[in-house]
Amino acid sequence: MRILSGIQPSGKLHIGNYLGAMKQHLDLQDKGEAFYFIADLHALTSVKDPQALREKIRDVALDYLALGLDPTKCAFYRQADIPEVPELSWLLTTVTPMGLLERCHSYKDKVAKGIPADHGLFAYPVLMAADILIVDSNIVPVGKDQKQHVEVTRDIAGRFNNLYGSKVFVIPEDRILPEVGVVPGTDGQKMSKSYGNAIDIFLEGKALKEAVFSVVTDSAPVDAPKDPDANNVFNLLRLFVGEPEQAEWRERFLKGGLKYSEAKKRLLQVLDETFGPARERRKDLAKNPAYVDDVLREGAKRVRPIAGATLARARKACGID
Ligand code: ADP
Ligand code: TRP
Repeated sequence: MRILSGIQPSGKLHIGNYLGAMKQHLDLQDKGEAFYFIADLHALTSVKDPQALREKIRDVALDYLALGLDPTKCAFYRQADIPEVPELSWLLTTVTPMGLLERCHSYKDKVAKGIPADHGLFAYPVLMAADILIVDSNIVPVGKDQKQHVEVTRDIAGRFNNLYGSKVFVIPEDRILPEVGVVPGTDGQKMSKSYGNAIDIFLEGKALKEAVFSVVTDSAPVDAPKDPDANNVFNLLRLFVGEPEQAEWRERFLKGGLKYSEAKKRLLQVLDETFGPARERRKDLAKNPAYVDDVLREGAKRVRPIAGATLARARKACGID
């Protein structure tokens, strides 16, 4: 079984990225042949400052390695180190109907948020399809908001296979953790790098405390019974504690007499427990940039022959071998 996923180096990674995507990636390292990459070509659709992009790429690499990505178990690489990917992307664009891309929520949402609608942003899902298809991925672990992009990939791969009368591509499936869903940000909307509502994984000390205490709650009096499911602190806390503790907090919310600050303190504590060791590992790794470069270079070296074989198959199928 081949597993593939990518993450954009477009800002500091937050606990929504961790729970929705990275945690699955780390768990799946032992379950098959895993390919994880830093989607730097995709990031060019939003990051236009070269030095900032270099730093963000390095940051994402450090984040993953610190959280437990093991480069001996999976291939970890930069998208831009695999030139077969953009070439395959072109072949795929020629079988991609405009309407398919026009329907993509992510494109529409980004344009609605004021990101200029350049062609890269529009064609983003086709490049993503190339990432996935180039290594014959079976499973694509992602957060819920990426489901549509995996569906687009299946559609494009099916069209190519139908048109060229051969099974060139493996049709992949998404893998989404239903119990996580969309992780809320400090304001209750989807947590996102671009909405200013994120709690970053590697925040610590005062900055982390400020982020946790900025989680928006209502002004219900302490004594009032409160609906846990409508509360942003509970909705974050439940993602980090086991069933019994969740049930306890649920009961305390419903009973009344709970100060939101108590739940916030517990959230702060579980974040420290969950990410504390990784923060220390990250500091050590950051002292050794040559090691990180080596890991990414080695990862690309492992992927390129696989990518080359898929591209050759696709080129042959459509008559440009
Ligand atoms: P962002 O919205 O912060 O820019 P990305 O689009 O780069 O995040 O997402 C990277 C990965 O993390 C994707 O697989 C995405 O589905 C997942 N992800 C991002 N935000 C959340 C969230 N709030 N809840 C669950 N998963 C998320
Ligand atoms: N679009 C994904 C995101 O924003 C990142 C990504 C690029 C990706 N290529 C991919 C995810 C291929 C899974 C598979 O999160």
